[in-house]
Amino acid sequence: MKITMIGTGYVGLTSGVCYAEKGHVVTCVDVDEEKINQLNSGQCPIYEPGLKELINKNVPKGNLYFTSDIESAVKEADIIMIAVGTPALPDGSVNMAYVDEVAQQIGRAINNYKVVVNKSTVPVGSAERVYEIVKRFSDIPFDVASVPEFLKEGSAVKDVLSGERIVIGADTSKARDILIKVHEPFEIPIQVTDTRSAELIKYAANSFLAMKISFINEIANLAEKVGADVLEVAKGIGSDSRIGNKFLNAGIGFGGACFPKDTLGLINIADQVGHNFAIMKEVVSVNQKQYLRVIEKLQSVYPDLSGKTISILGLSFKPNTNDLREAPSIKIICDLIKLANGNIEIKAYDPISMDEAKGELPDSVKYCSSVETVVEGSDAAVIITEWKEIVEQDWLKLSKLMKAAVIIDGRNCLDLNEEDNVLYVGIGRKMTRLNNGVLSVNQQ
Ligand code: UDX
Repeated sequence: MKITMIGTGYVGLTSGVCYAEKGHVVTCVDVDEEKINQLNSGQCPIYEPGLKELINKNVPKGNLYFTSDIESAVKEADIIMIAVGTPALPDGSVNMAYVDEVAQQIGRAINNYKVVVNKSTVPVGSAERVYEIVKRFSDIPFDVASVPEFLKEGSAVKDVLSGERIVIGADTSKARDILIKVHEPFEIPIQVTDTRSAELIKYAANSFLAMKISFINEIANLAEKVGADVLEVAKGIGSDSRIGNKFLNAGIGFGGACFPKDTLGLINIADQVGHNFAIMKEVVSVNQKQYLRVIEKLQSVYPDLSGKTISILGLSFKPNTNDLREAPSIKIICDLIKLANGNIEIKAYDPISMDEAKGELPDSVKYCSSVETVVEGSDAAVIITEWKEIVEQDWLKLSKLMKAAVIIDGRNCLDLNEEDNVLYVGIGRKMTRLNNGVLSVNQQ
């Protein structure tokens, strides 16, 4: 079938490319002509393992096209998918301006029956909203459905091609049958439901995962106070299949383009209908404070941070992506500079997101070309993102390059033990052996 995907962000580009891989003829549209030129010349504007290879495989096959001409792309399509940004507004509600604009453009261009699909994460009732907008511009019959995307950055291609479920929200049998046919080649279980339930599924899924993270972070914070180890607790509860062992990694909280926005989005959806979603409010509040834990730990080692050199390992909000949206690294670095009244040297290293970081972080941050150079001569190393390259280092060897062997592990990703002559501080971990016993943090 002919699919037009409007918006070439993580969701639009990855899912568009994967629909092409499954045999559909896909045209990806974006207003950003530079991005389209990049894609047409075989480059991939985002870092996502496997994506570039699939683009370069499907373009020559005639399955995949990139264009800025939305009108022709709408006219040619059987199915039009909307995957433009839906950022949070300051009050937590969802900014629907880009979706509304695309709906108008579809309404102006539509020439025969189409299924219009919301792929972006949009509030409950958005299928009806898009329907009303398209209808204002055209009398041609069409349906609007919801097929939310559950991909994770860093494993997006794999998540789309071999996900655990596909949710199709459709309110007419015609749209439902067409969308089942589109998704059958994926050979993934399909759940068919109404549009409103599909829209709520997406928010509920992300919010539930975010709730798991805030819960385990609170357990970590409590474990420190009662002398327990959060890794043991997570293992002990995660082996109960009703709880599950995923998303129980305590650390500095969740970031990225989805969880922070979608938790606020769900609270706002509930508020709109007079429902106080108190649990989610707490999930957000725990997360907003969690990044402060590494700063507190650093301050318990160095009450006065002025004159210190701190190395930051990892900048992206999680490994395998260059995405810095809502990345705890930014807040941590800015807070440290503020706390030391600017009298602090911040050295940073990230395998792929340093160019992006330059636009987000103060100019005083010094970027290093390797893990060795970033830790060299520093008073403390702070691990913010658990990149494989960072985790798999010989940290005992690295600690010898440091001025003081202090490692604050914001992701609990290292495995240093008591004999190590290093001050190693994780989040919620029972630990610590320390530079000749002089420094002591987190001990009962
Ligand atoms: C998420 C959802 O997983 C995905 O299904 C949805 O479509 C989009 O949002 P993503 O934001 O790419 O995907 O990343 P994810 O791997 O889910 O991690 C989100 C954040 O939670 C990251 O900041 C990560 O570091 C943090 N996290 C995750 C934890 O702190 N602990 C965990 O145990 C898991």
